[in-house]
Amino acid sequence: MDADAVAAEALVAVEAASSVAELDEARVRYLGRKSELKQALREVRDRETGMALNSARRRIEEAVAARQAGLERAELDRSLSEERTDITFPGEAQPRGHLHLITQVRREVEDIFLGMGYEVVEGREVETSHYLFDALNMPAGHPTRSPLHTFFLDDDVVLRTETSPAQIHAMEARKPPIYIVSLGRCYRRDTADATHYPIFHQVEGLAVDRGLTLADLKGTLLRLLRLLFGEEREARFATHFFPFTEPSIEAYVSCFLCDGTGCRVCRHSGWIEIGGAGMVDPNVLRFVGYDPEEVTGFAFGWGLERMAMLRHGLPDIRALWENDLRLLEQF
Ligand code: PHE
Repeated sequence: MDADAVAAEALVAVEAASSVAELDEARVRYLGRKSELKQALREVRDRETGMALNSARRRIEEAVAARQAGLERAELDRSLSEERTDITFPGEAQPRGHLHLITQVRREVEDIFLGMGYEVVEGREVETSHYLFDALNMPAGHPTRSPLHTFFLDDDVVLRTETSPAQIHAMEARKPPIYIVSLGRCYRRDTADATHYPIFHQVEGLAVDRGLTLADLKGTLLRLLRLLFGEEREARFATHFFPFTEPSIEAYVSCFLCDGTGCRVCRHSGWIEIGGAGMVDPNVLRFVGYDPEEVTGFAFGWGLERMAMLRHGLPDIRALWENDLRLLEQF
């Protein structure tokens, strides 16, 4: 065979290839295993023919490589110009959701307490009367043990009416010092109205350590109130009663709408009731095997719905359960 003639023919075919596929065809035809050139190379006997064939092969290979690069560049240029994205073109806005108000408040409260060195622990929505009542100093006969107030699943199993059993679980599971919060759903046999709903959320807090006093409780709650409702807020405590704290208090925050001068939200008192708290009753400490002479504790339990309603001026708790997007979208 005439190596130069084959090379010349191949170079024309390579140059003529107008796509990568066509180029590939030409490559197979002139350089493939069954090509004339490769067959001749296998059969070559003398040095001179070998050199001529190899030189032809090299020229064809170089031409293929050059053409390949050219075609690829052309393809890139084409796609760059034809498929160009105009990044200045206004996009299609995607509607963006957000967390439910209660979830927002819940996470915020968790963050605040994590920042104060507390641990967030899980509670149980379904409890036994042991944890919901006995351990919280509400012996048999106590009024909240009535099925008029509490959802009983059977004689002994109840839906928790408050997050306070989380205190007992925490004290059973660990040793002082304890600094925990536990947030979640509670259930009471309440008729739904503007401020009540049979399902609601609480944040329970518990601290047990050596030498904790009411002053520590006050400082902690004041910090929470200021982070939630503004740095200028003041707190006030009034005595109250809970079976599992002694003394028990109800916390009030100075009204953030009128700044204490009196308005509809604070019922013209300048103060808004925010929730219960107190020093852990020595009976409760003894119940979990702690020595009240050694350690003291404080606890609080506040409603998340109330916090959300106060912050956003929501007049009706039911709005938080109706999930009407026209309302929820505003927050
Ligand atoms: N569990 C009480 C309630 O639901 C609130 C509370 C919690 C009070 C902890 C004192 C200590 O009303």
